[in-house]
Amino acid sequence: MSTHTHSQSLAGRVAVVTGASSGIGEASAEHLAALGAKVAVLARRAEKLDDLVARIEKDGGTALALTADVTDTAAVHAAADRLRSELGGADLLFNNAGVMLPAPIEELRTDQWQHQIDLNITGLMNVVGAFTPQLVESAGKRGVADLINTASIAAQNIFPNFAVYSGTKAYVTHFSRTLRTELGPKNVRVAAIEPGIVGTELQNHVTDPGAREWLDGSKDTMEWLTPQDIAETIGFIATLPPRVNLQQVTIMPTGQPS
Ligand SMILES: NC(=O)c1ccc[n+]([C@@H]2O[C@H](COP(=O)([O-])OP(=O)(O)OC[C@H]3O[C@@H](n4cnc5c(N)ncnc54)[C@H](OP(=O)(O)O)[C@@H]3O)[C@@H](O)[C@H]2O)c1
Repeated sequence: MSTHTHSQSLAGRVAVVTGASSGIGEASAEHLAALGAKVAVLARRAEKLDDLVARIEKDGGTALALTADVTDTAAVHAAADRLRSELGGADLLFNNAGVMLPAPIEELRTDQWQHQIDLNITGLMNVVGAFTPQLVESAGKRGVADLINTASIAAQNIFPNFAVYSGTKAYVTHFSRTLRTELGPKNVRVAAIEPGIVGTELQNHVTDPGAREWLDGSKDTMEWLTPQDIAETIGFIATLPPRVNLQQVTIMPTGQPS
């Protein structure tokens, strides 16, 4: 009985999830669909998105694959237009695509600095620009919409060799906190989720040997979070009564000190 009510808690809502082809975004898209939302899934890898859409539809949900690179402003706007025409506009945005490339600053990996800034800041802003009109419009009609940005505990805590990544995530958290004062009065709840370590493809992209060693070693001392843990938290944030806005959520593996 309670399970049935739970499964209907996002019925009638339309979500868009970026970074939905793996990790946190993929698990969140599936979970939001299981809670009854129609879900548009956005990332670059079309095949992964098609598999995800097929899985959601097999479970009785509705999903739409939007293949796009979030650093391409025109592509993101085209995806938003498609979502509007096919699903009627988004009232839940999980703005989650991102990359983490730690390295000592003196190695001057300017390519990796730029990649993180382009994706974690500019890409995030392209998505905000393309979908905010839909969120505000939906909130006006339904009384609530959600804009949830993925930051990181790196926005708050100090990790040597993570200066660029941490800077991009501090941007996400402070941007979210400030944007909330504009959109909250329009019934759009703005939130930042700040996870500690979650086992995803994120760690596979790390090239710095020191950071890889630190990450691998941490597996021996703690149990990492799973993408599902974050997915359920996103579901929780979006199903709260319209008056309740979790502004920042820090979610840590129990065994991770900081
Ligand atoms: N895992 C952790 O420990 C952890 C902790 C704190 C915060 N985070 C944050 O959580 C978010 C999700 O990361 P994750 O851990 O789930 O990693 P992940 O498995 O590597 O997922 C990253 C997602 O972003 C997509 N993406 C990458 N570049 C893109 C682009 N240019 N345009 C569109 N999509 C793009 C990837 O898909 P395509 O390659 O198909 O485009 C993928 O779906 C990130 O913002 C990350 O910084 C992760």
